[in-house]
Amino acid sequence: MTKPATQAASSTEAAVETPENEVLRLLRLRGTVRNFKSDPVPEHLIEAVIAAGQRAPTSSNMQAYSIVVVRDQQTKTVLTVIAGGHQAHVADCPVFFALCADLTRTDYACSMHGKQAWTEPLSKSCLS
Ligand SMILES: Cc1cc2nc3c(=O)[nH]c(=O)nc-3n(C[C@H](O)[C@H](O)[C@H](O)COP(=O)(O)O)c2cc1C
Repeated sequence: MTKPATQAASSTEAAVETPENEVLRLLRLRGTVRNFKSDPVPEHLIEAVIAAGQRAPTSSNMQAYSIVVVRDQQTKTVLTVIAGGHQAHVADCPVFFALCADLTRTDYACSMHGKQAWTEPLSKSCLS
């Protein structure tokens, strides 16, 4: 009889098949939320979420994006339409993070090093 995947033969196999650590546990718990309380979100929590997001890896570590924190109701309503409509949660959430690709950051970083962006590999123009 075939064993279920969760019933491994040895503790080594079990560790491979169902590794237990805090990161994997949290990833299993993660889910998309589209219903929000109207409670205000404290500033320190917003900053903590942004700081966590900034740890995400990016190509050449250019971090070529901007995060716009939107609290204004009218702006969130407009964003509902921009997001394709029928996304009431965009307007209903107390705080909305608009993540925008921002390649001007690459130009800026290169100019800080006296280089012109996109004329040579980024690793040569900015990262060295
Ligand atoms: C790139 C990307 C874009 C998404 N866009 C939307 C969106 O516009 N509206 C929405 O309600 N959910 C959006 N989602 C959430 C997905 O619908 C959701 O992750 C998927 O249904 C799986 O559900 P889960 O996140 O609860 O596992 C998006 C997810 C990703 C990764």
